[in-house]
Amino acid sequence: MPFDLEAVRAQFPALAITDDGQRRIYFDNPAGTQVPASVAAAVSDCLLTSSANLGGNFPTSQRADDIVASARSAMADFLNAPSHDEIVFGQNMTTITLHLSRSIGRLFQPGDEIILSRMDHDANVWPWVLLARDLELEVKWLEFDAATFEFDLATLDELITDRTRLICVGGASNLTGTLNDVTTICEKARAAGALSYIDAVQSVPHVETDVQAIGCDFLVCSPYKFFGPHQGVLWGRREVLEQLEPYKVRPAYSSIPWCFETGTQSHEGLAGITAAIDYFAWIGQSMGGKQARPEALRAAMALMFEYEKALASHLISGLQATGGVVVQGITAPDALDRRVPTVSFTHSTLAPDAIAESLVEENIYVWSGHNYAVEVARTLGVLETGGVVRVGPVHYNSIAEIDEFLEALGRIVAV
Ligand SMILES: Cc1ncc(COP(=O)(O)O)c(C=O)c1O
Repeated sequence: MPFDLEAVRAQFPALAITDDGQRRIYFDNPAGTQVPASVAAAVSDCLLTSSANLGGNFPTSQRADDIVASARSAMADFLNAPSHDEIVFGQNMTTITLHLSRSIGRLFQPGDEIILSRMDHDANVWPWVLLARDLELEVKWLEFDAATFEFDLATLDELITDRTRLICVGGASNLTGTLNDVTTICEKARAAGALSYIDAVQSVPHVETDVQAIGCDFLVCSPYKFFGPHQGVLWGRREVLEQLEPYKVRPAYSSIPWCFETGTQSHEGLAGITAAIDYFAWIGQSMGGKQARPEALRAAMALMFEYEKALASHLISGLQATGGVVVQGITAPDALDRRVPTVSFTHSTLAPDAIAESLVEENIYVWSGHNYAVEVARTLGVLETGGVVRVGPVHYNSIAEIDEFLEALGRIVAV
């Protein structure tokens, strides 16, 4: 069965909300997606029936234990992690990264080198720059080509030395939408004896993620970007996690993954994470013909990626046909496998904020600015000029919505 957009949209109550009879078009998804009713129900059920702390011998506490265990298993399936106890939960990706970077830094000596990328969101840049300042590490930068919007990985070889200890890079750019070859990057890190830390926040909602195939040491993502609640998740390779000294209080568990989770977690958020993963599995089961959750998840991601590629193609060609618009990302029709459908653009005369504000008047939601991709905006030369307009469809958006957006944009730029 092909991808069934109507069945998908029916899962998301927010897609049916109107304002004074006018539909809403959500293209702000890279900053946070809408959630299926099943996710909200799981969050609510947790709060209403299982509100207790962990480890007690009474039913609400036992249910809370089950909720945490189920969320770890769900995330392990989603990321193809070898074990559920390599899954660490936290408030969001930024908090997890700031926290774990302290423990990771304990492995390094002054003068060691770390490689950061100019294509990353600041959450995978600045925690490491701060660490480097504290520990007197040297930071080296993996640049991307502002014309192709991609890395030339030969330049990574030039940056790696026998002092390289860590390479941090994103799965997909939250500004240009470029999908990076993280498998090759992690291979190069391993060959150099360095650790790899992958920010998969923007790739996980769009492509299958297999931490074993990627060969990374750490991978982080944010469930609120993939139809779940506001949470962060880290997968860490067991051998590396076990080497790290956790920053924790004395009574907290010393074993992984608990030792990296500070205080009491949002159990309701974890219940919502399981429901979000099960939502993907539902797509794979009902439209991909697979039953077991791991296979259903893979089928779902493949179906969604193909569908989203059609959305990206339509959006990009429409933008290219709009006067004064420059797409800040990969546009070649035969290169759409190397990007997610997040498409950013600038205009020759109109400021990104002004365009985004005009779109709100038509009930079309997009983001403008640098979107925390500070180094990306600087490399593209748009940091001082208001950044970009970012249009981020996902699998619940339609070609018709893209057409409505393009028509609205046409009217805005014609004024
Ligand atoms: C690529 C990328 N990394 C990290 C983050 C930060 O995520 P969080 O809000 O979970 O800290 C974002 C948020 O937009 C992002 O797009």
